[in-house]
Amino acid sequence: MSTKRLCSTMERELALEFVRVTEAAAIASARWLGRGDKNNADGAAVGAMRSMFDTVNVDGIVVIGEGEKDEAPMLYVGEKVGTGKCSKVDIAVDPLEGTDLVAKGLNGAIAVLAVAPRKCLLHAPDMYYMNKIAVGQAAVGKISLDASITENVTAVAKSLNKEVQDVTVVVLDRSRNEYIINELRSIGARIRLITAGDVSPAVAVAIPGSGVDMVMGIGGAPEGVLGAAALRCLGGELQGRLWDGGTIKSKRVHKSGVTDTKRILTMDDLVSSDDVIFAATGITDGDTLKGVRYYGNYVTTHSIVMRAASGTVRFLEAQHRIDKKSGYVNGREY
Ligand code: FBP
Repeated sequence: MSTKRLCSTMERELALEFVRVTEAAAIASARWLGRGDKNNADGAAVGAMRSMFDTVNVDGIVVIGEGEKDEAPMLYVGEKVGTGKCSKVDIAVDPLEGTDLVAKGLNGAIAVLAVAPRKCLLHAPDMYYMNKIAVGQAAVGKISLDASITENVTAVAKSLNKEVQDVTVVVLDRSRNEYIINELRSIGARIRLITAGDVSPAVAVAIPGSGVDMVMGIGGAPEGVLGAAALRCLGGELQGRLWDGGTIKSKRVHKSGVTDTKRILTMDDLVSSDDVIFAATGITDGDTLKGVRYYGNYVTTHSIVMRAASGTVRFLEAQHRIDKKSGYVNGREY
């Protein structure tokens, strides 16, 4: 594990600054709920997140973001964010994780980011997909991507003191994950199929009472890093294996970073520092976070923010006064 440390001001107050960034993205994006317009929903989140980053005292570089400079005007990979003061950090962002969910008014969309010292987040810019398994604290060390679906579910059931039939597994509903769904059905495990947004359930596996025990299947690779950052803070485990069966989203092939599709990526490969901060705000209602609500003169948000170094997990409910703010809160911009 890396021993890189952030400078001392990258402490408590900075974690709260990052949650202001995800709150801004969530509020801006939630205005587009159900309007069938995922581009504007995403654009609103990106714009609000980008401008809020300007107020945060870090020297940040986006390492997981909206794409390449020539295809993304903001929060592109390589873009510098923050005031440039203090800690040099790498930043992974997904201003709107689950664009379709917001466009259709469905549950499970979040605004999310992770921040770590330089070079401590997996660099795999050419790989869009990752096969993942995520579990909470009780099952750490008990699962493996090399084991069968049945073996993994049985191990999780045992560690949670449950029957296999009581274990709830979240799987992205894709044909590439059909073999997982079929095996889960054959052993009688409970399955929650989702159409998008697999970061939120990866966080939920480590939150008691969320109702989610495991996440399995192939989803986005950047989302795997974000999920691992959350579980590093919460004490769970996510293993990944890059998958190249889908299209590579980026037009540019970097010929850099990790491209090995055989190796299991451990928590240390995905996020190699305990100095990681994870923040997320619900856009629509989800497993652990409520979505944005509008009350005429104020807006409420529900967020989680946590630091692996301290292990502190905070849930924040905030009221944002519309008459005291401009831009993303009152909906006149973005
Ligand atoms: P968005 O880009 O719309 O936010 O989609 C996110 C997501 O649903 C992830 O949660 C998931 O890991 C990935 O896309 C799955 O990709 P695909 O939709 O190509 O199967």
